[in-house]
Amino acid sequence: METVDSIARLRVLRKQWAQEGKVVGFVPTMGNLHNGHLELIRRAREACDIVVSSIFVNPLQFGKNEDLDNYPRTIDQDKQGLEQHGTDVLFLPSVAEMYPRGLAEQTFVEVPGISSIICGASRPGHFRGVATVVCKLFNMVQPDKAFFGQKDYQQLQVIRLMATDLSMDIDIQGVPTQRAEDGLALSSRNGYLTAPERQLAPTLYALMSELKTTLESGNKDFQVLSSRFVDRLNEAGFTPDYVEIRNATDLMMAQAQDNELVILMAAYLGKTRLIDNIRVSVA
Ligand code: PAF
Repeated sequence: METVDSIARLRVLRKQWAQEGKVVGFVPTMGNLHNGHLELIRRAREACDIVVSSIFVNPLQFGKNEDLDNYPRTIDQDKQGLEQHGTDVLFLPSVAEMYPRGLAEQTFVEVPGISSIICGASRPGHFRGVATVVCKLFNMVQPDKAFFGQKDYQQLQVIRLMATDLSMDIDIQGVPTQRAEDGLALSSRNGYLTAPERQLAPTLYALMSELKTTLESGNKDFQVLSSRFVDRLNEAGFTPDYVEIRNATDLMMAQAQDNELVILMAAYLGKTRLIDNIRVSVA
């Protein structure tokens, strides 16, 4: 695996791959990799000739009160995991390489609507930061395919809509959420859970699956169901943030005529905020 920190070197490699007719796959990350990330690398490895991954903790997607400086950085361990799973090139740019004119003057990409709802409502500017950095990384790597976890469903849809709106010739692949045996979605945040919280945590997935079955049985009382499952989370010992039943593409409120839905849940266990989601197809 070659580690590249300059856009110039990446462009030299990219030209070479183009001349050789290689299919290039890209897995952007912020590091602190777990098995969910490594599954993205496995998928890219299966589908592409060349696998590029990036590690860049993007300041543009952190809010003022979010702790950018304390974001976990585990670069040596990450490099090992990437190499073991067959990454060809790790792109590891500095903030100056990514934002040479500084953050304040940076041109940005914003996908309207979807960026300011659900997680975007509590994190203003977050999805603008994500769309901007992913757009820039796409311009640098010029991948044929790019791989994102379905765990961050709203992020995945923001990126899909950006790629469509800006006519990007990139196949955006959503990779199913990796789960522990008891159903808990893998996340770096699971490490913050105490032992009793960890035992309770899979109930989030269990309740989400129960709501999925209820929707599949034809119940379309979306508002009533959402508040019922907020109560169920409370009763189970969570502090719920939201239970949302949404249109799976633009994440607007689900309507009776929508066939492709997604359930999104966020809830606290102690200080840890867990999020999860599940797709539902209804007749
Ligand atoms: O999901 C992430 O790790 C980040 O939001 C991403 C897509 C790498 C952009 O910084």
